[in-house]
Amino acid sequence: MTACIVGWSHGKFGKLEGETSESLIVKAASEAIAHAGIEPKDVDVIYVGNMNGGFVRQEFHSSLPLQTHPDLRFKPSTRVENACATGSAAIHMGLNTLAAKKARFVLVVGVEKMTELNSAQAGDVLIKASYVAEEANIEAGFAGIFGKITSAYFQRYGDKSDALAKIAVKAHRNGAKNPFAHFQKEFAYEFCRTPSDKNPFVAGPLKRTDCSPVTDGAAAVVLTDVGTALGMKQAIAFRAAQHVNDFLPMSKRDIIRFEGPALAWKQALAEARLDLLDLSFVETHDCFTSAELIEYEAMGLTAPGEGERAIHEGWVERDGKLPINVSGGLKAKGHPVGATGVSMHVMTAMQLNGSAPEGMQLGKTKMGGVFNMGGAAVANYVSILEPLR
Ligand code: COA
Repeated sequence: MTACIVGWSHGKFGKLEGETSESLIVKAASEAIAHAGIEPKDVDVIYVGNMNGGFVRQEFHSSLPLQTHPDLRFKPSTRVENACATGSAAIHMGLNTLAAKKARFVLVVGVEKMTELNSAQAGDVLIKASYVAEEANIEAGFAGIFGKITSAYFQRYGDKSDALAKIAVKAHRNGAKNPFAHFQKEFAYEFCRTPSDKNPFVAGPLKRTDCSPVTDGAAAVVLTDVGTALGMKQAIAFRAAQHVNDFLPMSKRDIIRFEGPALAWKQALAEARLDLLDLSFVETHDCFTSAELIEYEAMGLTAPGEGERAIHEGWVERDGKLPINVSGGLKAKGHPVGATGVSMHVMTAMQLNGSAPEGMQLGKTKMGGVFNMGGAAVANYVSILEPLR
């Protein structure tokens, strides 16, 4: 255990008219600093997680947190990008900086402002997170990549549309209890299961309700070393933090096996000296419902091809043996790509110190897992968090 989250903030996710990535960053940064109970001058290093790639014209984001307070002027700050795992990548940079003893307090802000573009234009930006030389002509943007993965999964293991619909229903049921979520309403199983005008096919077997939405939002954390954290008002420790990158081209991998995510989980559980079911809950990267299904297998909850058991048998529901995405996940909470990894860590920290919103808070929790993924199982980050005391 080397570092802790000692302050955090999370804004409402959604279509945030009137907000810019700058205004979102400033709000998230100032609230996280205040929550940690430190002064802006105490921040030594800043990382900004932002994918962008054309969502907004402002590309250069690293100095925007300095707008929060004059005392942040001249602090070293760097923008970090690793596709949809950008937020976790920024947190890992913070952890590395602390491990190198280059800082006492690190501020990490994750942000994305996606809704200035319509869904088709956003898809054109997101497809840049594929292996463009071979995959960029797939239709429907990044949803097309997962449409292809889902079709391949169905071909090998049979049609799993029932399981996907149940995963969507679970996400929206949980998201309805999360005031930070983009969608705060329940969706009926029949609606998610049946194609309709309101729920059309988007890519391959994936319907609209199988996709995370195009969302604006920001979240932030303050990190410090364990010694310092012992004197802070709240401290959630990293029991493990692992990062595994796989080849980018899908043609170089068995794409429905998610080997990179599986290795990241294996390494994180080994580092933490835990079994998966020692965790009280997991926040996993459900950019599409089929991603969550395959991740059940990658984390070791079921054997390959049997992921549907986890949802059919209720293991991943709020009251199941391993609740997954009690925040609503990317599916209901939204997926502002640069913010998502930070958001997952904030949701987990809140659960672990008992400060999650009413209705979303689980009963007794000991440890929580986070899995954040960039590209189609390419950049894979697993964190295991627990209260320091
Ligand atoms: N899930 C459920 N409902 C959704 C939704 C989603 N993902 N996206 C939009 N809606 C709803 C809207 O709220 C709206 O509802 P209303 O009519 O009650 O107001 C309706 O569907 C139409 O919204 P619109 O934005 O016009 O839908 P769209 O068809 O243009 O976009 C997707 C839907 C799924 C194509 C879009 O959300 C998308 O591209 N998602 C994937 C994003 C992505 O690839 N992220 C990266 C993953 S790694």
